[in-house]
Amino acid sequence: MKNILFIGFMGCGKSTLARDFARESGRVFIDSDTLIEMQFNLSVSEIFATFGEEVFRQEEQKMAYFLAQLKGICIATGGGFINVKDLDKIGFCVYLRASFEYLKNRLNKEEIAKRPLFYEEEKARNLYNSRINLYEKKANLILDIENQSVESLIDELKKRIK
Ligand code: S3P
Repeated sequence: MKNILFIGFMGCGKSTLARDFARESGRVFIDSDTLIEMQFNLSVSEIFATFGEEVFRQEEQKMAYFLAQLKGICIATGGGFINVKDLDKIGFCVYLRASFEYLKNRLNKEEIAKRPLFYEEEKARNLYNSRINLYEKKANLILDIENQSVESLIDELKKRIK
């Protein structure tokens, strides 16, 4: 069974869909941000505040090399994971696509507090604009998620991925 990676900007629901699709397809669910948090015993925000973004990105690269050795897993990635080397060697990338406005409206204060790169809306918007082409380029499958229920997205995935 091939690995499935869920990619896309913050707030697009990568963890929810990866977890549900893992269960539906008999794969093991892994969240790259959670693995990094466990490694440091700190939250992503704390890692950014204590060590800086650069260290977090190095950890993402380490996780990418580790994940590339596994088979039959469903991976929720962080929004910046698409910049790791050899992403395509890890597995089949599903891009959960939505507009910036839509994603922004989905994130409440508590969810924004967990995401240092979303603290300032204008910066987040610029980051979104700088990444959208890359998400599309790296994607093996694009799902437009706006106003779609989790159930309908899972049904679509079941049709498209074996
Ligand atoms: C980031 C997205 C976050 C997390 C970190 C950096 C990004 O994950 O990895 O805050 O660079 O877009 P989510 O996409 O799950 O919010």
